[in-house]
Amino acid sequence: MSEKPMDLQPSASYYERHIFFCLNERKNGEDSCSMHGAQAGFDRCKSQVKAAGLAGPGKVRVNKAGCLDRCAAGPVAVVYPEAVWYSFVDESDIDEIVESHLKNGQVVERLLVPPHLGR
Ligand code: FES
Repeated sequence: MSEKPMDLQPSASYYERHIFFCLNERKNGEDSCSMHGAQAGFDRCKSQVKAAGLAGPGKVRVNKAGCLDRCAAGPVAVVYPEAVWYSFVDESDIDEIVESHLKNGQVVERLLVPPHLGR
């Protein structure tokens, strides 16, 4: 009897939730998430997750990302494992994502990226 390769075996996720923020900046001056408050959103999320005691293995991880190819909705962030895409405007939006989704697993419907919006 042969064993399954490691990558095909189910396992617990290292993080319960993982949120990626596009911080892409285009050197040629073209529009990108960095021109619409992406860094501020990332910084706010990072500090709120830490302040709430949500950061760490088995909990939440906040990461930077390059272009996620959904620029038309920017600034954007995506939460895994649910693969839920958000667009945000200010700190209160970020706070709601942290409290509702990252802490309690409830999707913030009003901030969802419309399904058809891509690059
Ligand atoms: S520049 Fe942010 S998704 Fe493309």
